Amino acid sequence: DWTMESFIEQQVREIRAKVGSANVILGLSGGVDSSVAAALIHKAIGKQLNCIFVNNGLLRKNEAERVRNLFGRAFDMKLIYVDATERFLARLAGVEEPEKKRKIIGNEFVQVFDDASAQIEQAEFLAQGTTYPDVIESVPIDGNPAAMIKSHHNVGGLPKEMKFQLLEPLSRLFKDEVREVGRQLGLPEDVVMRQPFPGPGLAVRHLGAVSQKTLDILRDADEIVVEEIKKAGLYYSIWQTFAVFLPIRTVGVMGDERTYDYVIALRAVESTDGMTADWVQLPYDLLGRISSRIINEVNGVNRVVYDITSKPPGTIEWE
Ligand code: XMP
Repeated sequence: DWTMESFIEQQVREIRAKVGSANVILGLSGGVDSSVAAALIHKAIGKQLNCIFVNNGLLRKNEAERVRNLFGRAFDMKLIYVDATERFLARLAGVEEPEKKRKIIGNEFVQVFDDASAQIEQAEFLAQGTTYPDVIESVPIDGNPAAMIKSHHNVGGLPKEMKFQLLEPLSRLFKDEVREVGRQLGLPEDVVMRQPFPGPGLAVRHLGAVSQKTLDILRDADEIVVEEIKKAGLYYSIWQTFAVFLPIRTVGVMGDERTYDYVIALRAVESTDGMTADWVQLPYDLLGRISSRIINEVNGVNRVVYDITSKPPGTIEWE
């Protein structure tokens, strides 16, 4: 029986002993697991930890600045920031098919990550935020029926040909313990409690081909959803809440003007592991506030709809 404090002390000793004077690479996504792994390893080896954070152009609003401020400045970690937005969006231009989008994003990520890690000298270890549930469900790609439906990939996924030793200091912890370790290491509540976000990012919440302009519409709408759900005190108790961009336009009226603009769908689901999920009965007044704010504040949207599909038969993400 150990406390999180003694867990941290013990891991710090083990990481130092294992790594020696070598450098460690970690793919930072901004999610709970990679953030806590980064904080823990940084406590152990400081500047020997090299975080790589890839902006694929599919991140939520202000996410890149948030990650750079927290890890690069507040924690003063060595952080390689790669803004690969143009590269990803160029490869995704005109691609509508969900699985094609996922494959392109996965392949592109591996290349960008590879290029960035090649610059780091004496890198012998690749750190990952693997947790205990990841270990026990560690046949997810082939054995898990959910993986047959969508080709999941995690930012920081290990390219097979990489010749690093693995460093996985969270591999014996459950999610709640990972969060507690993060708190002890000084990560803000907003980071340790954040909702899951898919590796392919907003691309799987933007139906059809993505473009800078329509991704911005989705980002602005999504920001409003998260803000209002937080204000209502529901963000940390609901599994996921987000906006989905529909590339179809409907007719509306604004003042005396006819409008012809895009549709945003809202998704809110309750779940314990993402394998099954129930749509959440959000209060009508909250739905109303989100809807009017999106329509008033986001140019190009004149209609908001609510997704009342559970999983199964729906999936959580729309693509
Ligand atoms: P679906 O849409 O399959 O999602 O019901 C189940 C859970 O997995 C997340 N998700 C992903 N996570 N890489 C990830 O790391 C992915 O490619 C990916 N696709 C879906 C989704 O947000 C939900 O929590």
